[in-house]
Amino acid sequence: MSNATITVLPGDGVGPEVTAQALDVLRAVEEKYGHTFTVHRRRVGLDAITAEGVAISDRTFDICAASDAILFGAIGSLPGGHTGGGPRPEQALFRLRKEFGFFANLRPVRPPEALHGASSLKPEYLKGADLVFVRELSAGLYYGRLETVPGKPSEIRRTPGATEAVDTLLYTEAEIERVVRAAFDIAVGRTGKVTSVDKANVLSSSVLWREVVERVAGDYPAVTYEHMLVDACAMRLIRTPADFDVIVTENLFGDILTDEASMLTGSIGMLPSASLGTRRTAGGTFGLYEPIHGSAPDIAGQEKANPLGAILSAALLLRHSLGLEREAAAVEKAVDTVIADGHRTADLEEPGRTPVGTAEMGRHVVEALRHP
Ligand code: IPM
Ligand code: MG
Repeated sequence: MSNATITVLPGDGVGPEVTAQALDVLRAVEEKYGHTFTVHRRRVGLDAITAEGVAISDRTFDICAASDAILFGAIGSLPGGHTGGGPRPEQALFRLRKEFGFFANLRPVRPPEALHGASSLKPEYLKGADLVFVRELSAGLYYGRLETVPGKPSEIRRTPGATEAVDTLLYTEAEIERVVRAAFDIAVGRTGKVTSVDKANVLSSSVLWREVVERVAGDYPAVTYEHMLVDACAMRLIRTPADFDVIVTENLFGDILTDEASMLTGSIGMLPSASLGTRRTAGGTFGLYEPIHGSAPDIAGQEKANPLGAILSAALLLRHSLGLEREAAAVEKAVDTVIADGHRTADLEEPGRTPVGTAEMGRHVVEALRHP
């Protein structure tokens, strides 16, 4: 029996709707398997900026720090990019990722067979597709953005007659090595193949990335690996997705490729993620769990959001932070069951099928979990 503390940060837009369903599923797990989950709910993103003046307050941060895991919904965005004064919703995510050292972002892409018809690819291309991205999450182009660190600028420089902008893509060898090792460790438990994605024909950071992969690979004789340029990877993901097993890549490449890969499942609403560092909990590793989709303000509050990405994120939470593998697998199986039974939210709508709402989809998963 597990006694765990989970901080829930629902955030903005559809975030609260989808995390409510994920939480119901966790409650059902608690009841079925006799665990006790203490849940703290806090504001984040635009919601926190409106109510508390900052994207994430120190108090919320401390509550997260004292938890075993964070269940995150989505955050909204403000127009105009990241420059300019005032608090911005993304700051919450960047602070959580950086200060908790969440350097490995796992994004599994496992299109259920019943959804092959919903994908934007022809079903025959999806046969055997089952891959996981390990996206580097706490360095690269994304950092150097919150404040301008000397030698690592991210800014627009306006001088009379000449305006320029700079972002810095900086990786230390250690930052590359820890995420590459995480990918090889994951590959050991799967089919044993790593694809390292870079742009080594252009970028120095990618040349170093390759060197590190070569060195780390020496410690994993049972794992096969390859290097692939990011443009080729973008193409091969929708040409031969079944060729991939574990894909490891830097922060921005991973951000872009995972949105692309989500279409293998038919909807970005299907994809969960786990952000992990090195801090141990009683049952596993402290982490943050969120669907990869955004806050989708255009459909918020209309029962149109797909809660399965959030529910599958809760499954990852059970597995990685609480060490509850049996429970995680049961949640994933329940999701497969509702999909196989033909339940679809609006994003996966097929001709002749009436879509179910967000909460109804959540109820189907709870039902499938209770009565497998
Ligand atoms: C993601 C999101 C974030 C990112 C945004 C909200 C800053 O797109 O988690 O993939 O780019 O990392
Ligand atoms: Mg993204």
